Amino acid sequence: MVIILYDSGHVKILLPHSSPPLTPYEIIIMNIQGKTAIVTGANRGLGQAYAKALLQAGAQKVYAGARDPSSVTLPGVTPVKLDVTSARDIAAVAAQCSDVDIVINNAGIALTDTQLLDIDTDQSLRAQFDTNVWGILNMSRAFAPVLRANGGGAIVNMLSVLSWLSLPRTASYSASKAAAWAITNGLRNELREQGTLVIAVHAGLIDTDMARHLDGPKTRAEDVAQRVIEGLLNGDEEVLADAISKQVKAGFALSAAPYLADQRS
Ligand SMILES: NC(=O)c1ccc[n+]([C@@H]2O[C@H](COP(=O)([O-])OP(=O)(O)OC[C@H]3O[C@@H](n4cnc5c(N)ncnc54)[C@H](OP(=O)(O)O)[C@@H]3O)[C@@H](O)[C@H]2O)c1
Repeated sequence: MVIILYDSGHVKILLPHSSPPLTPYEIIIMNIQGKTAIVTGANRGLGQAYAKALLQAGAQKVYAGARDPSSVTLPGVTPVKLDVTSARDIAAVAAQCSDVDIVINNAGIALTDTQLLDIDTDQSLRAQFDTNVWGILNMSRAFAPVLRANGGGAIVNMLSVLSWLSLPRTASYSASKAAAWAITNGLRNELREQGTLVIAVHAGLIDTDMARHLDGPKTRAEDVAQRVIEGLLNGDEEVLADAISKQVKAGFALSAAPYLADQRS
């Protein structure tokens, strides 16, 4: 085992992945103490929980991105105006927040009750791709050089169990989260060289405004945020934040995988 400790507090551990031949498997562990983070959509819901959890884990500064910065109420954070669909906002924030080590791409929208075969869905499909896919990609493009300059850092992308499943009312949201998952996997490959940890977070229902109208077991936003903090500290590239995401992922090995299930009933 080879451990490389960078000045930034970043740790890389090279482990033999398979034998023979011995392929090094790199784990990038993120030290949160004294670091600076930015969270998108940090004014409410899970984003606010992420911001709070980062402060509790010892982050020195947390930029709370919000479309309306005056809606940020969490004490101790630095509000910044950030609509993730705005190239101008993203460029301004990347220039202003050049001390960032951790980017949490949390902002998202869910427009349900849409049918892919219905042409009227195009507008909501595009809106969800603009926020859930292009938002993540454009934030990652803007902050990749910032993270590199600061020693590697981490990008956390908030996905969903619906990155893997399409339910009758979630087809367009699921399409956006599936694309965001693929983009997360691609970014991980491209950012490994500069030592950036890229984490995909999957979860079922979380108890926020987004899931307010839905029935079913919901995980507390604070618990999801805490699991992601642990993921950063452990160098996990995937965080399965609740029981349902673990169950669905485990089902991938079955021939009747969950995403093939008949969802009509
Ligand atoms: N809740 C769930 O069951 C669940 C499950 C799995 C994954 N997720 C994912 O978790 C993330 C957080 O969702 P949530 O549950 O906290 O939802 P939420 O309560 O609806 O909050 C969404 C947040 O995203 C922000 N936002 C939306 N569009 C934005 C944009 N263009 N630019 C910047 N911010 C924007 C909202 O800001 P405004 O206040 O300005 O609208 C709000 O802060 C999303 O990516 C969501 O897809 C949620």
